[in-house]
Amino acid sequence: MAWPDEVAIIGAGYMGRGIAEVLALAGARCALADLSAEQAAVGVERLLAESARHEADGLTRAGSTDEIRSRVRSATSLEEAVKRADYVVEAVYEDRGVKADVLRRIEGSAGREVVISSNTSAISIQTLSQGFENPTRFLGTHWFNPPQFVPGVELIPCPQTGADVIDAVEALLTRAGKVPARVADSPGFVANRLQYALFQEAIAVVEEGIATAEDVDRIVRTTFGFRLPIFGPFAIADMAGLDVYRGAYQVLEDSFGDRFAVPQSLKELVSRGVYGAKTGSGFVIKSPAQAAAMASLRDRAYVALGQLVDGLERDEDATDG
Ligand SMILES: NC(=O)c1ccc[n+]([C@@H]2O[C@H](COP(=O)([O-])OP(=O)(O)OC[C@H]3O[C@@H](n4cnc5c(N)ncnc54)[C@H](O)[C@@H]3O)[C@@H](O)[C@H]2O)c1
Repeated sequence: MAWPDEVAIIGAGYMGRGIAEVLALAGARCALADLSAEQAAVGVERLLAESARHEADGLTRAGSTDEIRSRVRSATSLEEAVKRADYVVEAVYEDRGVKADVLRRIEGSAGREVVISSNTSAISIQTLSQGFENPTRFLGTHWFNPPQFVPGVELIPCPQTGADVIDAVEALLTRAGKVPARVADSPGFVANRLQYALFQEAIAVVEEGIATAEDVDRIVRTTFGFRLPIFGPFAIADMAGLDVYRGAYQVLEDSFGDRFAVPQSLKELVSRGVYGAKTGSGFVIKSPAQAAAMASLRDRAYVALGQLVDGLERDEDATDG
């Protein structure tokens, strides 16, 4: 698939509109379809209003709303949108039955080689692929809310997805300014599995009366969550010390049982003296020089992040006042 002449986006809700804004600003023409021609037209109006707000706030380049107006149209029906498209994005309700029906209709109207992706948050791509006659052109592209401003997109092939299809969608997303990551098909993929695991414990902490929801949010934002724009959990563990993690895990395992059982790979690394930054090797740290560079980046990044957050909070206070 080359850069598409026209992308059909099925579902003009939050995600469909955001994806349309990104792809249109990257130069693609887009057709937005919804349950009816009227709902699709309302979707385009909302998209233009959102885009105007982004432009007024300086979040997108000057003239972006006019660019979007010139490239995005509302479709009279799903079939009409798909017939003219060379790439189709499905972004309807997160309901297996609704998605299966919509994907069947998309495949019925799309050209045989047209690539079709689903923006499902959690449904297995293989499950969704089962209704396809030609699943080689189907895959998951899991964007995040708001799609205009969150860089990452999970790319999820099913076993039949063609290698050229994955490459082409990866190239398209990259050209649109996104940061795609390929992951295997598994319910919730990677990001939502992690995010929901955190939320599970956050709710448990509140239900057990350990902290209020407000305090949990404050603690996450100002402690380990503060690091997450720069480092993922493996780099953070390496920098903290895998021996330290091993010890803390043991306390959690002793208190909470299997839910916090010390992971086997962590036990093995620690038993071999692999402690992360302090020994120059860990899950992602491979050398003392890399550990030193990471620590330097960490310190500079955290000071810069702290200043950014303070500035945003001051702006917010000024607006409130
Ligand atoms: N909202 C999020 O944070 C988020 C993040 C990532 C992925 N997603 C996924 O993106 C998808 C869309 O989510 P959303 O938040 O945009 O939902 P939404 O409710 O805002 O929009 C869904 C749109 O799909 C339309 N629709 C429903 N059935 C249809 C059909 N048969 N034909 C045409 N249009 C139809 C609805 O009218 C609605 O406009 C879901 O699969 C969701 O899980 C959502």
